[in-house]
Amino acid sequence: MERSYNFNAGPAALPLDVLKKAQSELTNFKNSGMSVMELSHRSKEYEEVHNRAQQLLRELLNIPENYEVLFLQGGASLQFTMVPINFLGNGNGSYVLTGSWSKKALKEAEKIGKTTIAATSEQTNFDRIPKLNELSIDDNASYVHITSNNTIYGTQWQAFPTVENLIADMSSDILCRPLDVSKFKLIYAGAQKNLGPSGVTVVIADKNFLEKGADNLPTMLDYRTHSKNNSLFNTPPTFAIYMLSLVLEWLKDQGGTEKIQETNNQKASLLYNVIDESNGFYNGHAQKDSRSIMNVTFTLPSDDLTKQFLAESKELGFVGLNGHRSIGGCRASIYNAVPLESVEKLSEFMISFQKKA
Ligand SMILES: Cc1ncc(COP(=O)(O)O)c(C=O)c1O
Repeated sequence: MERSYNFNAGPAALPLDVLKKAQSELTNFKNSGMSVMELSHRSKEYEEVHNRAQQLLRELLNIPENYEVLFLQGGASLQFTMVPINFLGNGNGSYVLTGSWSKKALKEAEKIGKTTIAATSEQTNFDRIPKLNELSIDDNASYVHITSNNTIYGTQWQAFPTVENLIADMSSDILCRPLDVSKFKLIYAGAQKNLGPSGVTVVIADKNFLEKGADNLPTMLDYRTHSKNNSLFNTPPTFAIYMLSLVLEWLKDQGGTEKIQETNNQKASLLYNVIDESNGFYNGHAQKDSRSIMNVTFTLPSDDLTKQFLAESKELGFVGLNGHRSIGGCRASIYNAVPLESVEKLSEFMISFQKKA
């Protein structure tokens, strides 16, 4: 069977070369006589995989020495709790609301302590990222939390605010472009969009900031537990981390974040051009200056046409084009591993569907 044109929002497409490499090593990893999944997480062979994944992340994102790279579990959703439980203290958690995920992050922080909303675009159904000068940050803010890319609404921060103690959920766009890590105290990302399979969450954090976390936390919820133990305090998701290391090798072979950003821009432009040139047949959800290069969201003139579009696209091998249930319409998730060819095919299909409609 041919591979699908996979536009799933996450878990999402992985590079075919990565899957083939994993397949070739599956039953006998580096002459160990077993798969990576069967290795002890304390073995030398596994340790190399673990450290290589960290090192590649450091290289690809130019992560400063004074930052930790952690591999945690519980998805980005557990980070919604870990961030406030570690860092809220007696201050305010200041949240910028740009979609469902940032609202979920805020909801968890509200259970831990005081919070404020620094800005929100909910009035216009999260169709934009607030301007930097719209942010109102409390003097007593313990940190400012943003969601760099809004997977459901298809909006993305184009430039980051310069504020103290900035924390970002980068689950759906980490490594899609170069990043100045030093602007952030902590970055977290579930792997299942741009990094690999689900099961591992990457955390990149300023070491001094981590040290300022609250005392007497449950062991597993304390970032320091994981930083002191090189993310090996308990059994890590070894296979997910192995896959992460292969995805990072692949990204390095592609030329790293600058090169992938060029390709991502090219892919996103293909779809946004179709939308913009469709005379309103396709209606993009995101305002132009907030458009995501990872998730392209749009609607068609009616529910019937949307259904027909999805049905016909499915026949042709396109997968995952339905919009999230909370906003409907369509969404094409075009993460790093989605080949340009899949996006070209989709743009051709969109044009021909409009002509016929
Ligand atoms: C931006 C963002 N944050 C958080 C999550 C939740 O991630 P997880 O399912 O890994 O907890 C998602 C999942 O789609 C997401 O897109």
